[in-house]
Amino acid sequence: MKNIIYCDNAATTKTRPEVIESMLPVFSDCFGNASSLHKEGQKAKKLLDNARNTVSKALNCESSEIVFTSGGTESNNIAICGLADWAKENEPSKNHIITCITEHSSVRQPIKELEQKGFKVTWLKVNQEGFINLEELEKSITEKTLLVSIMHANNEIGTIQDIKSIGEICNSKSVFFHADAVQSAGKIPLDLKQNKIDLLSISGHKIYGPKGIGILYVKNNLKLKPLLFGGSQERGFKPGTENLPSIVGIAKALELKVLELEAEILKLRKFQNLLFTEIFKLPNMVLNGTPDLEKRIPGNINISFQNLDGDAATMKLNLNGICASSGSACSEGGIEPSPVIEALYLNDNSQKYLAYNSLRISLGLFNEEKDILIIAEAIKSLIN
Ligand SMILES: Cc1ncc(COP(=O)(O)O)c(C=O)c1O
Repeated sequence: MKNIIYCDNAATTKTRPEVIESMLPVFSDCFGNASSLHKEGQKAKKLLDNARNTVSKALNCESSEIVFTSGGTESNNIAICGLADWAKENEPSKNHIITCITEHSSVRQPIKELEQKGFKVTWLKVNQEGFINLEELEKSITEKTLLVSIMHANNEIGTIQDIKSIGEICNSKSVFFHADAVQSAGKIPLDLKQNKIDLLSISGHKIYGPKGIGILYVKNNLKLKPLLFGGSQERGFKPGTENLPSIVGIAKALELKVLELEAEILKLRKFQNLLFTEIFKLPNMVLNGTPDLEKRIPGNINISFQNLDGDAATMKLNLNGICASSGSACSEGGIEPSPVIEALYLNDNSQKYLAYNSLRISLGLFNEEKDILIIAEAIKSLIN
């Protein structure tokens, strides 16, 4: 059987053995409910506290600021809708939200829902490299602005936004700042004491942890209205018995990623440069997003072909044992363009087709140098 080369780590990652090892005893030896007062319950409570401490150390924040959720989508929803619902009841004049058209759908969709319910929304555009304009952000803030939600790194093109400056702008105007860090946490430095962030989302399965588990950082004293009711777990923001095996798993995954951060960045930057050097001179191919690779998530390359749609490219690579992904999506009406790639070329009609033809390579922990040359050869043969 052909070896598979997995380079779709922005979609999901393989759970690493150390994480599985940390989780297994929780199923069998530490099955108690962390809210129970007996010995089994207290054992579970200790693991829960330890996991929260591990995560808070990795992010440099207080352990009381960590809320475990069911994933990135839930973290984003609790952050955005929880704050909006709270403001509606307590500060109704704050009815303006600022976000960006290239956010993940788990940010865009809840904000669209709020827009339908009467919130005013400013949808910031991006330049051709995928960056928002900080002056435009600052100018968009009014006395009615409640929240700015801007992702740390984009899931398709890997663009890293300047969250330090965004946080400072928001803080100076007394506006809350939520950052979706699902694609950046554990992959580039992220220090909550060095940044003025109020809410931040992380997902387990993007960092070699389990699926269906996430983290929401909620700054102490920040008020949110829960979206679910029926328990006081996780400060009431995520009621219900805690998913302890996965909580232990995500904490282990994040701890390892932060420990390995520098070495991983070096490795993935090297691979990213190597792949880029191999393919960037190919005819009929465009790099989507910034050519400054340092401003992309390590290991991310996103390209479009002139004459080949993204799904066809993905399927052809798949036949060669390479797992990558396209930004376009099949729907009943045909192929839907990638909204992220579309956003890069809003001012240039002649480039719009690129949104149908994009291919994302996202390298990760388990890739080796030899994979890169095989991927490059496969892309070259796609073009030929
Ligand atoms: C930037 C971003 N935010 C949020 C999510 C949603 O995370 P989850 O799959 O854990 O719900 C994803 C997943 O692709 C993502 O890339």
